[in-house]
This record gives sequence, structure tokens and C-alpha cells, in this order.
Amino acid sequence: MDDLVAHIATEAPGLIPDVPGGAADVVSDDASDRTPDEGPVRSELLPMTARVGADGHLSVGGVDLVELAERFGTPLFVYDEDHLRQRCRDAVAAWGDGVAYATKAFLCLAMARLVHEEGMWLDVSTGGELHVALSAGVPAARLVFHGNNKSDDELARALDAGVGRIVVDSFQEIERLARLVGAGTLGRDPQAVMIRVTPGVEAHTHEFVRTGQEDSKFGFGLASGAAADAVARVRALSGVDLVGIHAHIGSQVFRVESFAEEVEVLADFFVPLELGELCVGGGLGVPYLAEEAAPSIGQWAQTVHDACRRAGIPPDTRITAEPGRSIAATAGITLYRVGTIKELRGVRTYVAVDGGMSDNPRPVLYRSGYETFLPRETAARRQKAVRVVGKHCESGDVVVAEARVPADLAVGDVLATPVTGAYGYSMASNYNKVPRPAVVFVSGGGARVVVRREDYDDLIRLDG
Ligand code: LLP
Repeated sequence: MDDLVAHIATEAPGLIPDVPGGAADVVSDDASDRTPDEGPVRSELLPMTARVGADGHLSVGGVDLVELAERFGTPLFVYDEDHLRQRCRDAVAAWGDGVAYATKAFLCLAMARLVHEEGMWLDVSTGGELHVALSAGVPAARLVFHGNNKSDDELARALDAGVGRIVVDSFQEIERLARLVGAGTLGRDPQAVMIRVTPGVEAHTHEFVRTGQEDSKFGFGLASGAAADAVARVRALSGVDLVGIHAHIGSQVFRVESFAEEVEVLADFFVPLELGELCVGGGLGVPYLAEEAAPSIGQWAQTVHDACRRAGIPPDTRITAEPGRSIAATAGITLYRVGTIKELRGVRTYVAVDGGMSDNPRPVLYRSGYETFLPRETAARRQKAVRVVGKHCESGDVVVAEARVPADLAVGDVLATPVTGAYGYSMASNYNKVPRPAVVFVSGGGARVVVRREDYDDLIRLDG
């Protein structure tokens, strides 16, 4: 994949900024040096209800994926609804009331409702996510509102709706809140707020999604004293009630010990404040590739709870978290249709599908790797090494740089990439005016469209 990286670096300058530590910090998400194996796709990478039928076809939620592609077209995001529900239940069982689903991972009305039905709160980080959650009928009191640059309008809406928590991220935001609360936006109980701090813990993950270091656009630094200053200022405000401290150390984190370190660092600051809540953020990683493994939500929570006890955090403190990826990623599979196959002798084979960087920008953004398989012969060996690419007008448009597929792969086949349930559809675009795919939830033998496929008219609906 070196040539791909070189291509990105030369043809798209600025995409990978020259940050301190840069490429050397890329740990878990970089699939550049990978040599995938020939065995069938591992079942751990598939949704919970995935089954291989007698005909070799993969079904999820009792629905044959090849038929699903026929019925709803491709590209198609397919979610195992039972898997989503199970992960939400795991989160509530592990963390208790207050654990919030990070909606940035994947959000639509049906997802917001499902998460709420399963007892999780929802973390929203923009006015848009807030709007979708409220439109889905989620009670505002079960929303946590994040964001490093919340506007007056966003804050006013959140206050007006009565969100459960506002996570304050900057001194300007404190001033805005003071103004809005003072201006009478709030005619009732004080607004519960938390303060986001940057603990300075470096999670082992990709630089672009690592947010806990002191050199961060998020939150208030502990070491600089900014966090203590923020606490004093918020406590001096009437109309708001400081209920807790929040931190988030990064995303796609495989080492749960990083969260224990986070707790250790936070405890010295947190305990003397005598606040009732501590949120450790999201970030638990999931395996995308055959050779990867990640701790469960239960193990993550246990590690954090143990660390809290060791650090002297009072046992009646509400310890919460905000998982996104670990709820949604493995529940989702993307189905594509193979359109062209180019065998470049002595070079490589390019397999082009009907989507690409518009439905999954992660390979281009983070060099993320994925597995591939053919749902018509799920258990087949994947002898053939290919590069799966999209239909966009640039060579960087790679879906799976180092893919393995069965030798009989042919034009017209449905090709699947598992573990696309988080940060896939939510980061999709209309690049090259490609309409965004449909999203279906499958369960109990039935499929329902939860987000319809965009059509060409959608592509001009905003034009004046
Ligand atoms: N809480 C906060 C404050 C966050 O910033 C995030 C993710 C989460 C929770 C959820 O983290 P999760 O459990 O999903 O790791 N686009 C990137 C991921 C960016 C994550 C940003 N913040 C990707 O595709 O890998």
C-alpha cells in the first residue's frame, strides 16, 4: 500500500498534515503493511445474527444478503438490528444509567429511537445531531450536548429543549451560557453542565482521532490550570449546575489500560471537587481486520471501575461513558456491486465497485483497512489478492487497498465489506454527485429501509 500512501501525499497535499509525531503515531488503524490471509472472513467481524446457509449465502437478521442487494440496490448499508440492540444492552449493563451512544458514529431517526428504547442516553455534538435526536422523540433530558464550538443558536436550542447535560468546552462557551441563561432563555431549573478536560493521556490510536493530549482543540487542559479556572467560573454562574467532569482520550482504542491511565490522571483533579459524575468519553476500538481483537464493552467498563476504586473516586459517583463505534460498527455491512475488473499483468488487479470514498472515506482519511468477501460464497477461501476501488474520479479512491477475494470473483458479483456500521454513512458525501446509499435494518427475516437511497433529484434539491 506504500504507493497509495505516496499517492495521497503527493496528489492531495494537506490531507495528511505534518503533525508532530505524525505517521509514527499511527498504530491501530493503519493497514499499509498488511498481508491479509486467504481464509474465509472471520465470524467475529460479522454481525451477531450472520449465518451461512446451505447454499453458501450469508444471511443477516434472517435475510439473504444477495437478495437484499437485488431488492434494494447497491451500495447498501445493512444493519443487524439485533446486534445494535444487544450492544446497547451491553453498554447499559456495564455502565448503568447515563451511558450515552455517540451519535456521530451513525445517526438517523430509527437509530435514535432504537438506542433510546434500549435505555441509552444519546450524545449529540452539533445542532444537527440535536435536531435528529429530538425529531426522533428522544426526551431532551436524555441528551448530552458536546462540541468545541457551539454557537449561540445551538446553545439556545439545547437550553430551550432542556438537554440533560451540556459539556462545556471553552471559556467563550461559559460566557455564552452566562449570557443566554441571564437573558432568560431558561425559565426553570438550573441547566446541568459538565466540564470537558484534556487529561493529556495519549491513547494508542490514529493521530487524527486522538483528542486527549494537551495540544488539543477540545476541552480545558489540566496541567495548565485552565480546567480549574473553568470549574471556578462555571460554579460562579447562576442558572447552571456543575454536575461533573468529562474527558475523552481518542477513538479506536484497543488498550483498555489507556482508560485506566485517564482515570488516574483525572482523579487528583476530580476528587476534591466533590462532584457526582465522571464521564470517560468514548473510544473503545473494534476489530476491522482478521488479525485484530478488541476488549468487550464489559471489560472496558470493568477496567474503568477498578481504576476509579483504586484512585479513591467515591463509590457513589456516577461513572459514565459514550461509546459510538463499539455500538454500531460491527452491526453494519456495506454491499457493493462489482462493475469492472482490470487485471494489470505484473502490477495488480483492480476491482471497481459502485460506491467508494463517498460512502466510506475512512480508507482515504485514515488508511483504514477492511476485509472483503462475497456473500454468495461466504465460507470460500479468498485466494486472489486485489485492490477494491470506487467509482470516483481520483486514484486515491480506494475501498480496500489489500483485499482478498475468491478466485471466481466476477463482474456483477455482490461484494461486501464488514464492520462499516460506524463512521461510514455518517461521513458519507455526494462527491462526484454520487447519491448516498440506502440504509436498511434487518431483523427476524424482515428488512426495513431506515434511510432511503438518494436519487438524482436529491442532488439538486438545495440548488437555487
Ligand atoms: N465522545 C466524544 C466526546 C467523542 O469525540 C467521540 C468520538 C466519542 C465519544 C465516540 O467515540 P467512539 O466510541 O466512536 O470511538 N471519524 C473517525 C472517528 C472520530 C471519533 C471522534 N469522536 C473514524 O472514522 O474512525
